[in-house]
Amino acid sequence: MGKEYFSIKFENDNLIFLDQTKLPLEEKYVTSDDYERISEAIEKLEIRGAPLIGIAAAYALALSIKNASKEVLIEKFNLAFNRLHRTRPTAVNLFHALNEIKNVFEANKNSEDIYQIVLEKAKQFHQEDIDKCERIGFNGLAIFKKKSTVLTHCNTGKLATGGDGTAFSVIKKGFEKGLVEFVYADETRPLLQGLRLTSFELERNGIPFAIQSDSMAAVLMQQSKIDLVIAGADRIALNGDSANKIGTYNLAVLCNYHNIPFYIAAPTTTIDNKIATGSEIEIEIRNKKELLTINGIQVAPNHYETFSPAFDVTPSHLISGIITEDKIYTFPYNFIK
Ligand code: MRU
Repeated sequence: MGKEYFSIKFENDNLIFLDQTKLPLEEKYVTSDDYERISEAIEKLEIRGAPLIGIAAAYALALSIKNASKEVLIEKFNLAFNRLHRTRPTAVNLFHALNEIKNVFEANKNSEDIYQIVLEKAKQFHQEDIDKCERIGFNGLAIFKKKSTVLTHCNTGKLATGGDGTAFSVIKKGFEKGLVEFVYADETRPLLQGLRLTSFELERNGIPFAIQSDSMAAVLMQQSKIDLVIAGADRIALNGDSANKIGTYNLAVLCNYHNIPFYIAAPTTTIDNKIATGSEIEIEIRNKKELLTINGIQVAPNHYETFSPAFDVTPSHLISGIITEDKIYTFPYNFIK
C-alpha cells in the first residue's frame, strides 16, 4: 500500500488541495483561502471530478466571507457565488453545492457568526460525500458475479470526490473483497485523467492494473478480457441519461455490442432533477490547446480546427445499472422530481 494522499482538506481556515495537473510525477499541495484562486483551480482541473468540484466550491464560497464586514458581506458573497458558478458548466454537483450554501447564507446573513455557519454547512456537505462514496462502494459489490476484470474511464476516486470515489470506490471495495482482480484504465484523452490519476490511485491502493489508450478498449473486449465496465457521471437526467467524460458513450456502445455490463456509479447529488433527458445537459467545450498540445508540448499547429467536448451523454438504455448510495437503479430509470 502506497503513501497516503488527499484531494482536499480544510485546515486553519484554508483549503489545501492537491494540484492534479502535476500528478503522478509530482505531488504538490496548494494552500489557499482565496475563492478566485480556487475558481482558477477548478477551471484548470487542478481540482476536478464532479463531487470534488462541488465540495471545493462550497468551501471557496464560505472563504469568500471569512473577513467580510457587515457592509460588504452580501456583495462579497454574490461576487464569489457568480464567479464559482461560471467555472465549469456540466457537473451539476457544483450548482447543488453553491445553492445549498446560498440557502444557508440567506437564512443566516444577519448573524454575527455567518462565516462559521456557512463553513459548517460546507464541512457537512464534504462529510456527506465521504459517506455517500462509502455506501456506493458497498452497494456496488452486488454487480460482481465472480472474480472480475474491470475497465474504467477517466478518474473517479479520491481525486474526484470527498471520499473514496464513485466507480473507484466500487472497484476498491471489490478488490478488498477479492471480487476484482485486475483493472484496465482508459488513458482518457485529451487530459489523461486515466493515465495520470487513476493509475496513481490504483497504485497507491495496491490494485493491479494496466493503462491502455481509449482506442484499445474494443480489442480488449473482443479478446474477452473485460467482465464489466464502471464509470462515473457528471450529471444524470431524470430518465437516467448520463453525462460523463468524453469517451464514456463509446464504451457503453462497445459493451452493448459485446454483451458486457456497463455501470455508472454516482451519488444522488449528481442527478439533476430539473432535466428530463440528457439532451438538456450543457456540455463543456474545452480550449483547443488541450488537443493540440501534450503536456504543454505543441504537437500540431494552432490553426487546426478542433472538436473538443469534455463530456458525452450515454443514453440510459445502454446503462445496466446506476449505482448510488441508496441502491442500484436499473432501466427504465425514473428518478423522481
Ligand atoms: O473533466 P473532469 O476530470 O472533471 O471529468 C471528471 C469525470 O468525468 C468523472 O468521471 C466524473 O466527474 C465522475 S467522478 C466521481
